[in-house]
Amino acid sequence: MRVATTHQELGEKERRVFVPTMGALHAGHASLIRQAAGIARARGGEVAVSIFVNPTQFNEAADYRRYPRTLGADAEVCRAAGADVVFAPEASEVYPPGRVIRVPDLPRVAKSPGLEDAQRPGHFAGVCQVVLRLFELVRPSVAVFGEKDWQQLQVIRAMTAQEKLAIEIVPGATVREADGLAMSSRNRFLGEDDRRRALSISRVLRESGRFESRREYEAWMVGEMQAAGLMVEYAVVRDGATLEEPGAGVMRALIAARVGSVRLIDNSEVRFAE
Ligand code: PAF
Repeated sequence: MRVATTHQELGEKERRVFVPTMGALHAGHASLIRQAAGIARARGGEVAVSIFVNPTQFNEAADYRRYPRTLGADAEVCRAAGADVVFAPEASEVYPPGRVIRVPDLPRVAKSPGLEDAQRPGHFAGVCQVVLRLFELVRPSVAVFGEKDWQQLQVIRAMTAQEKLAIEIVPGATVREADGLAMSSRNRFLGEDDRRRALSISRVLRESGRFESRREYEAWMVGEMQAAGLMVEYAVVRDGATLEEPGAGVMRALIAARVGSVRLIDNSEVRFAE
């Protein structure tokens, strides 16, 4: 496995399968990289994983500063999961001084659902900016994004279509700890009590089948998580692609909540008749 820090070192490769990350890699990322490796092997391409903590998508400077930076361990995760090249650029490679890096027009799903877009103003502008820039530097034909960041996945799909990019966006399933907690780079900040409290998130997502109506389910999710001591930002059922208010059928339950100082998100497929 190679490590490149510039796009010249990275070079061009046909059928490149790309996994963009901010590092602090865990089993969830390893699963995305293995998935990418499966696609690359089948198509005769290679897997590139980027590791770049993007300053433009953080809402709080403190959150950006404390984001774990573990390049040595990350490279080992990439190698073990089947990556061919790790792209770990400096900020000056992604945002060259004196050059304006375009923020694309944000698709509706990045602006109107009132979920991450409302809780983290400016976040999707930063994500779209860096992903578009990384696409330009890495030149993939396929890119894999985790389903845990469900709204981000829909935003990237919509942006890729809007920009008319010939890049296939492939979703990667969320990987969970044995007790159900979705893998996240932020889990390492949870103390023992908060770690236990956080389990209410995956628990309420598993129990949608007990409810007839989505409204009833939404209210119950909020109550359960509050009772566990979480500060709930949203717990809603939406259309899985647009994240607008749904009609009925297969939808997505989406949650964001703070457990102490740690913000966690999770989601799962749900079905309601009304
Ligand atoms: O999901 C992430 O880790 C980041 O938002 C991404 C897509 C790597 C862009 O910085």
